[in-house]
Amino acid sequence: MRVTLNNITIDYEIAGPRTGIPIIFIHGFPFSKEIWKPQVEVLKNKFYVICYDVRGHGKSDVGDGQYTIEYFVDDLIGLLNHLRISKTVVVGLSMGGYIALRAIERSPERFRGLVLCSTRSESDNNDGKIRRAVQAQLVKNEGIKIFIESFLPAVLSKKTLDTKPEVVETIKRIIQQTSPLAIAGTQIALAARTDTTPALFNINVPTLILVGRDDTITPPSASQAMKAKIPNAELHVIKDAGHVINMENPQEFNKYLVDFLENLT
Ligand code: MLT
Repeated sequence: MRVTLNNITIDYEIAGPRTGIPIIFIHGFPFSKEIWKPQVEVLKNKFYVICYDVRGHGKSDVGDGQYTIEYFVDDLIGLLNHLRISKTVVVGLSMGGYIALRAIERSPERFRGLVLCSTRSESDNNDGKIRRAVQAQLVKNEGIKIFIESFLPAVLSKKTLDTKPEVVETIKRIIQQTSPLAIAGTQIALAARTDTTPALFNINVPTLILVGRDDTITPPSASQAMKAKIPNAELHVIKDAGHVINMENPQEFNKYLVDFLENLT
């Protein structure tokens, strides 16, 4: 399904019964809603599930390629308004977590629960901003293939790279569908994101934090730091997983997610 919001067309999918608390999934960079397949398959029997492509990703419009996390939050809220959803559980992976954290800071009344996967509340330090500037230039000058070669070993654990070719191929295919303009624009948006750490203390909905044991981009220490600040947050470290935990170890990921969601209803 498609909807035009904030001058951009967003592609989304709905699964499961339209009853109970809606659960909306936000993917990481530079992926698409397709990464949530292992979760949708399990949840759709019982839960009202929404997945969408962040602007510039998947089947959503690329637009002018100039993005900010603020626009991404506007799109999330716009989609909730379009679907007439007043409160939701947001599940965000990495960039999806950055979007969720800024959304709960801006619009806490729209949240019924929060699931933070492979993410962090701090903004980038100088090295991080410079790394993104280099990658933005690389993808525009050299194309997507070179970008993927440098990106995959950073987001997947060695075990996934060595033993799960289907996960590696799926991630590659998803990234290949993302335009260099959108990748560069999103890198700049991520570099410019705000630090949401001070707002963690105000989160007053049930919060689940999940992180891969071998995540080098948003390591377990970043999740522990968030857990220490979010009242009553629950944290689990997922084994045999790097950054894309929901695809690298879907069994363990789904177990924690389903337990959390069942306790909310
Ligand atoms: C993501 O998975 O969304 C990105 O790796 C996040 C980031 O680069 O900070």
